[in-house]
Formats: sequence, structure tokens, C-alpha cells
Amino acid sequence: MSLLIKNIGTLVHTESDIRLKYSGAEMSALQTIENAFVFVEKDTITSFGKMGSELFQSLAIDKIDTVIDATGRHVFPSWCDSHTHIVYAGSREREFVDRINGLTYEEIFSRGGGILNSASNLRKATEQELFEQAMVRVNEIISLGTGSVEIKSGYGLSLESELKMLRVIRRIKESSPLTVKATFLGAHAVPTEFKGNKAGYLKMLIDELLPAIASEKLAEYCDIFCEQNYFSPEDAMQLFEASNKYGLQPKVHAEQLSHSGGIQAGVKSGAISVDHLEFINDDDIAALKGSSTMPVILPGAQFFLGLQKPEVRKMISAGLPVAISSDYNPGSCPSGNMNQMISLACIIYKMTPEEAIIASTTNSAYAMGLSNTHGSIAVGKKANLFVTKEIPSYNFIPYSFGSVLIDTAILNGKKIS
Ligand code: NIG
Ligand code: FE
Repeated sequence: MSLLIKNIGTLVHTESDIRLKYSGAEMSALQTIENAFVFVEKDTITSFGKMGSELFQSLAIDKIDTVIDATGRHVFPSWCDSHTHIVYAGSREREFVDRINGLTYEEIFSRGGGILNSASNLRKATEQELFEQAMVRVNEIISLGTGSVEIKSGYGLSLESELKMLRVIRRIKESSPLTVKATFLGAHAVPTEFKGNKAGYLKMLIDELLPAIASEKLAEYCDIFCEQNYFSPEDAMQLFEASNKYGLQPKVHAEQLSHSGGIQAGVKSGAISVDHLEFINDDDIAALKGSSTMPVILPGAQFFLGLQKPEVRKMISAGLPVAISSDYNPGSCPSGNMNQMISLACIIYKMTPEEAIIASTTNSAYAMGLSNTHGSIAVGKKANLFVTKEIPSYNFIPYSFGSVLIDTAILNGKKIS
């Protein structure tokens, strides 16, 4: 199978040498080619360049299976979304209204809502029901340009329900064209049965759940919600000491509602990413500098909960890489639209479109260990791309917030829509 996209207005985020991440000022160096083509064989990008170039002339056009004429349109590498919770049951718009009427996210949780509300819904749902509900979201994000996604457990909060969630994630991995990475987030909240006994719950996660997950190979990463009333940096270090033994690399929900030390615990434990970061401080920036941990911002959750902004400009000025992801979940961001996340990052955090595009592709691919194969237009990389509708320039994507501007998604070299 071969596929040619020709007459591309702008081919966005090309690389002649693959880079695993872009830090600081490098995030502005988005490379593009005007009037371009990209050629795909099987599921891999095998060449790209200018229309009319020698490389283009060398293609045996009449032998190509599918040709797309992208005149007036642009081609991007698919978005990489390194932080989602898209396996969940039901929805939480009642809490949305409660927050409009004055309750905070923390108050809703202390009344047994929030994550515990989703846990009670998830426990009642069958694996098949959960799979079907999640696949609606999977197909939605594919149509919005996402090509790879990390999905977390964390609404089961018991041995059997966490395993049920992780098996649903495995089914999504097997049956959708998305590239999927699975994360065990048993330490998302202390469930009602363990109220007042956080140590007992952590012991169950470490002694029972981690070995079961490892034996079924159900997860690549282990995450924890490091926050007052949830889990502490010490809990994180304890959990990661165990998860590292099973080959599950750490990730941390850090500094979202307050500063609680999750970034430092993540960096010390060799986390691949620390996510949220609304309350990041100078010591955290210093700890991240020179580490291999990717700082991931989740503009949708910050916007939806009306939290303070993470200091993204300060992070980039300090030379850090930054990734953008959606956090798609029923409580703090009921949207997985990466185009919208990019708009928010540009509008609210003053990221440039170039920085936001790199943050949502290579850097977010890095945060799920995929940036050697995903997240840019490079020879040898996975052919995950999308063609836009007719728009004047790539800046139009963040500018035209709320519009759906993706025309055709191509995953693994195949046209999906
Ligand atoms: O990433 N912060 C914790 N976890 C999720 C929200 C979970 C929920 O409210 O259901 C988040 O924002
Ligand atoms: Fe999250």
C-alpha cells in the first residue's frame, strides 16, 4: 500500500534528523515546507519534500495506490495526547453546575463526588459497556487529528475494577488505529472502603495490583495524584520504588490545585513526565532543568476548573521543554480536542503557534516514549498525519478556536476519514 499527498500548501513540522524533544528556544524552530509532497509506504513515511524536486520526480506516480491532492490545505503530524482518562462511565455535568453555583472541585470531592463519583459509576459498568463508551471518545479524537494517546486507569480504585479498566485500555489498543500507551493510576484517590487508611490502600496497590498488572502486561506507566487530601510525595516515592521494579515508569499529577512536591518526587524517581504544573515554582524549574522528565501542561483542565495559570513562558525561558495534552476526563476536562488545547495555550499562556505545535507533537510523544516514531514528518516515522480543510496558514488552527478544521486523518498510512 502506498499513499501520496501532493500540492500541500504547507507541510508542517518536518525533520531531517529526528529529535526526541525540543527545549526552550528550540521550541520556536518549527520547520515547514511550502508547496510540498509527502509519500507513505505501508505505515511509514518514506519521503517528503518540494513538489517538482528530484525526489518528487523519482516517484512512480502511476503505481501509487492512493493520491490526495491537498491544494490550499496543510498537512500536520497527528497530535500526540500523552495524558487522558478516556475510559470512564457516565458523565459529571451535575458537578459542573455545582461549581458554577459556588462549590470548589475539592469541596465536591470531600462530599464523595469527583473521582469517587466516577469510581462508583465505573464499578457498576461492564467491561463491554466501558469499551463501547470509550470507543465513542476514541473515534471523536481521531476525527480531531489525534494519532497517539496515553490512557490512564484510576476510576476503578479496587483490584478488580482497576484491572477491568486496564483490560478495556488493552482492547482499545488492539482494536483502534490509535497508538495507545496504558498507565496505572490506582493512586488517583483513596476509595471509600479505605477511608482513613491510605497506607492500607497503597499496600494493596503495591502488593496485589502491581504484580497482577505486570503479569498481564497491562500498563507501561504508573501515575499518582500528588495533592493535599489525595497522595503525598512520600507516597509517590514509595509507589514508584515498587512500580520501577515491575518496569512501569513513573508519571505524576503534580502541583495542580496547590504546591505539594510532586514535581520533585517525579524527577527523583525518574518520571517520564510531570503533568498539570499550575503551582510550579523556581525550585521545581531548577529540578526539571537537565532532567529527562517532560513537563506537561493541560490547558483544558486549568481553563475548565478556573485554576491559576502555569508559568509556561518562564519554563520555556529557563530552557525547559513543554508538552501539551488534553487530560480528557469527566471531571476536570470533558474534551479531548487537541486543537482546542493548542488555542488555549496560545491565547492564555502566550505560547506561539510554533511552540504549541511542537508541544503537542514531538514533546507530547516524548511524554509517552514515542518521539522516535511519532510526532513529526520524518523519514522512517509512523505515517500518522492529517490534512486540514482549506485554511490560509497553520496559525489559523489556534486562531480559529472552536472550529473543526481537520479534513482527513491518516493513521498507520491508511485514510481513516
Ligand atoms: O487530571 N487531577 C486529578 N485527576 C484528573 C481529574 C479527575 C476527575 O476529576 O475525574 C485530572 O484533572
Ligand atoms: Fe489527569
